[in-house]
Amino acid sequence: MSQPATQNASPYGTLPPASNPALRKPVSLPRLVEMHARGEKITMLTAYDATFAAVADAAGVECILVGDSLGMVCQGLSSTVGVSLETMRYHVESVTRGVRRVQGTAWIIGDLPFGTYLESKEQALRSAAVLMQAGAHMVKLEGGGWTADTVRFLVERGIPVCAHLGLTPQTVHALGGYRVQGKTVESAAILKRHAHELQDAGASLLVLEMVPAALSSELTAELTHCPTIGIGAGNGTSGQVLVLHDMLGLNLGKMPKFVRNFMADLPGVQGQHGIKEAMEAYVAAVKNGSFPDNALHAW
Ligand code: KIV
Repeated sequence: MSQPATQNASPYGTLPPASNPALRKPVSLPRLVEMHARGEKITMLTAYDATFAAVADAAGVECILVGDSLGMVCQGLSSTVGVSLETMRYHVESVTRGVRRVQGTAWIIGDLPFGTYLESKEQALRSAAVLMQAGAHMVKLEGGGWTADTVRFLVERGIPVCAHLGLTPQTVHALGGYRVQGKTVESAAILKRHAHELQDAGASLLVLEMVPAALSSELTAELTHCPTIGIGAGNGTSGQVLVLHDMLGLNLGKMPKFVRNFMADLPGVQGQHGIKEAMEAYVAAVKNGSFPDNALHAW
């Protein structure tokens, strides 16, 4: 990102200039509810450090997910299972500092890592407190069924929760790989039941990962007070999320079908563009419904 000519060069990267807070509405739970009610798509991207978080905020991304995908993209782990709470705390703090330094407005979501909320509701509360004190506005946890009681327990104690169903990467070994979930009538019915239970327990957002587009559209219509955020779930959800490195084309393996590389592919932009422009294109494509394209990015 280029700096104004008058500004002294500073080493190690400079965060984007502070935006005018009067021009940017802070993202809050009521604002997300209001966007959902108006049918405006909610945009979410992962970020793990101060600079990318500040750039995502400046690009207009409403929700920044400090996902435990950082285990794979930052730490080089082969799954998210090895990510610790201390690592998540460190990255949530970094992202929060970045967003605060630019007077950003994004809603910050901290992922509760594997093994930090499974044992009991009390364990979940202790882990959630660590991420909230590091700066998160909301925590995310994976799975359905038993998680509803935990979600209710956290919500009753003032901790907003984003639930996560479908392909839940922390249970990849139990699921037998990164596969589409909810393809059979039985598994779709279970997923729907879990989604309704999570909404009733007070979850404010629900990530649907690798779920057939028809199922996630149906669920989105049914869940009147819990916006759905899709990743590989088609374009009928209330919003979208992508892993930052994937949408920047930094996935060095086989790109998942549901990803679009916004660095390679910016319709209407001539010549070179930077990361902020790629994020802006992502925001625009989600808002205008052109991403994801069900024919290309969904099942
Ligand atoms: O950890 C993460 O980045 C996530 C997204 C894939 C939704 O959970």
